[in-house]
Amino acid sequence: MSLQAESCSSLEELKALCGSQHDYLLSHWDSLDAMQRLGLGAQIRQIDFDGIRRELSSQEKSCDWSQLAHKAEPPEAVRLADRTDSLIQQAGHEGAQAIASGQVAMVLVAGGQGTRLGFDQPKGMFAIGPVSGRTLFQMHADSLRGAMKRYGVAIPFLVMTGPSTDQPTREYFAQNSNLGLDPKDLLIFEQGTMPAIDATTGRILMDSPSSIALSPDGHGGIVRALAKTGWLEEARQRGIRHLFYAQVDNPLVRACDPVLIGLHRLAGSQATTQVVEKRFATEKVGNVVKLDGKTQIIEYSDLPEEIAKQSNPDGSLKLWAGNIAVHVFDVDFLERCCQSVDAIPFHRARKAVAYVDEFGIAQAPKEPNAIKLERFVFDLLPAADKALVVEALAAEAFAPVKNAIGSPTDTPETCKAALVGLHRQWLKNAGSYVDEACSVEIHPMWAWDQHEVQAKIGKPVRIESDTYFT
Ligand code: UD1
Repeated sequence: MSLQAESCSSLEELKALCGSQHDYLLSHWDSLDAMQRLGLGAQIRQIDFDGIRRELSSQEKSCDWSQLAHKAEPPEAVRLADRTDSLIQQAGHEGAQAIASGQVAMVLVAGGQGTRLGFDQPKGMFAIGPVSGRTLFQMHADSLRGAMKRYGVAIPFLVMTGPSTDQPTREYFAQNSNLGLDPKDLLIFEQGTMPAIDATTGRILMDSPSSIALSPDGHGGIVRALAKTGWLEEARQRGIRHLFYAQVDNPLVRACDPVLIGLHRLAGSQATTQVVEKRFATEKVGNVVKLDGKTQIIEYSDLPEEIAKQSNPDGSLKLWAGNIAVHVFDVDFLERCCQSVDAIPFHRARKAVAYVDEFGIAQAPKEPNAIKLERFVFDLLPAADKALVVEALAAEAFAPVKNAIGSPTDTPETCKAALVGLHRQWLKNAGSYVDEACSVEIHPMWAWDQHEVQAKIGKPVRIESDTYFT
């Protein structure tokens, strides 16, 4: 077919996809060159027009979280106080068996742009190792390698990227020998995008005559994106039953935490989430609650302050459970969710988005003019027949890197201090002396947990300078 004939046939196909409601997306087609037409065509083909139509037509039904929050109760959870030695042992054994028999894989979400951190590369490439200077990606890969060594099994590692992080992430892994991971057990896949929508007219915005203003569809896009890769099907065939989920910004997470996986299995849960007790009422973490009999998460930005501040007679917070974005999902539950991906609601954010108008003139509004639509992975929780909430100690599980150096919370400094704090504690528990002024860091291939540190250290040591156990 000639280029011209091909262009005509694709124009017909694109017109059909856009329908009369969105045909303005093609209004500059005649002035575009072949490359621009290809680019615009590719963008249009991946737009979920049905999803947008449904979302816009259900405007009045959209979820009013701040209203719903009035009914929120604390979740039923396995709290730290409930975690008896025998329960931990039983769960640890159950989780270990599942990992060792190849039933577990891990996914790391790394599609966000890390704007708050002020780092212009994928956040995973940010150096965070307090002594080693290892990057966030390397820390997660090493933690997973530690789990593989402990259980003598290959554990697939999935990394979800976004439009701005995909290419540099792939290059980073390729240039660094896949961070020591076997390429056949590494899957880097890109999440989808959603177009920005004019808040007044409902029209999809274009950022140039040949391209649509797109942004990542939120980490809830993982369900659609995973289904596209065919991985869920492959996982089922390989006997992988559980997907351990974590965010790239939290290097304290223990890859494939066996106790969490064990508790998930013992409870017959399809979707389990790990939480920490909030440090203060308005902490910027999602609030894990029970709402209408279901486990749900209300984002910090949606929780009215007076509700966040409600307390129990002993002064503790009523809504105490903070989301640390560590989850375990059953593969067959995710497959079921793929069939009804639209059951996951969109969250709307009003943003100022630059665009070209119908005359092709660039507009740069200062005030929010557009709606961005995102799905959140934690909206899978209420879809589960059985969901479980498990409390962890923040000092052992949660030290996110969100904000730039010098900010009050969740900075590289607070994260490094937490990593050093945990490893110092492990060494002290093994009988060693660690000078408080020193930084210590333990590579997970040297010792993956307290138990392995104990075995490795043997005779107590004195640590009087910065030390990297590797
Ligand atoms: C998130 C959670 C919050 C939780 C906190 C814990 C949401 C909406 N909120 O807040 O409940 O308490 O983490 O640290 O998630 N990402 C993608 N694709 C996207 C958007 C984000 O992969 O389209 C990834 C990011 O790379 C990051 C993670 O998701 O790893 C969290 O995204 P971010 O926007 O930073 O969420 P927070 O506001 O920090």
